[in-house]
Amino acid sequence: MKEMWNKRYAQTDFVYGNMPNEFFKQQLLKLTPGTILLPAEGEGRNAVFAAKKGWEVFAFDSSIEAMKKTEKWAKENNVQINYQLSTYEEADYPNNFFDAVAFIYAHSLTRSANHKKMLQFLKPNGTIILEGFCKKQIHNSSGGPKNIDRLFSEEELLSDFTVCADIKIWEEEIELNESIGHSGKASVIRLIGRK
Ligand SMILES: C[S@@+](CC[C@H](N)C(=O)[O-])C[C@H]1O[C@@H](n2cnc3c(N)ncnc32)[C@H](O)[C@@H]1O
Repeated sequence: MKEMWNKRYAQTDFVYGNMPNEFFKQQLLKLTPGTILLPAEGEGRNAVFAAKKGWEVFAFDSSIEAMKKTEKWAKENNVQINYQLSTYEEADYPNNFFDAVAFIYAHSLTRSANHKKMLQFLKPNGTIILEGFCKKQIHNSSGGPKNIDRLFSEEELLSDFTVCADIKIWEEEIELNESIGHSGKASVIRLIGRK
């Protein structure tokens, strides 16, 4: 899996573009800047945007090529990102540390364990932002995993974040325009909530 991502990122500039994910951007701009964690952050498009808006950004990804690209993009934008080469399993931060955590297209077969682990690092009342593909995306060719078990359902996300207050989860049909990685008609799922 790691090799697949390294190969994909090494091939071209910004597989998912260098602009932030639109939902992430809209939600982040409603919040007061603080500390934010971006798991599986890839090439740094969301991390650099958040840092430019005054957030102290922590991010990790298991791909070395993703980390290298983020470091270059951060330098070009004169911002600093605390980026670690790490899997979900290895990720380690203080408990109750972050004001926000954002999962942007962070799909995995260990979804539930990953989400629950990241929640430990979020402060009480901290914000959760998530966008990913829902199960209907299996019928589209605009990106995302081809294994339906990696795609999200409302029930799955609800059970991952059951300890949280004010959770809103909904599906949408949208047009994705995120470079070559995410392009075209897409079935997404969005979540916004507080721990
Ligand atoms: C679809 S990309 C999304 C990247 C980024 N969040 C974005 O929206 O631009 C998924 C990312 O998950 C990372 N990844 C996959 N499995 C992982 C794991 N177990 N731990 C950490 N990162 C992982 C990949 O390296 C890849 O960068």
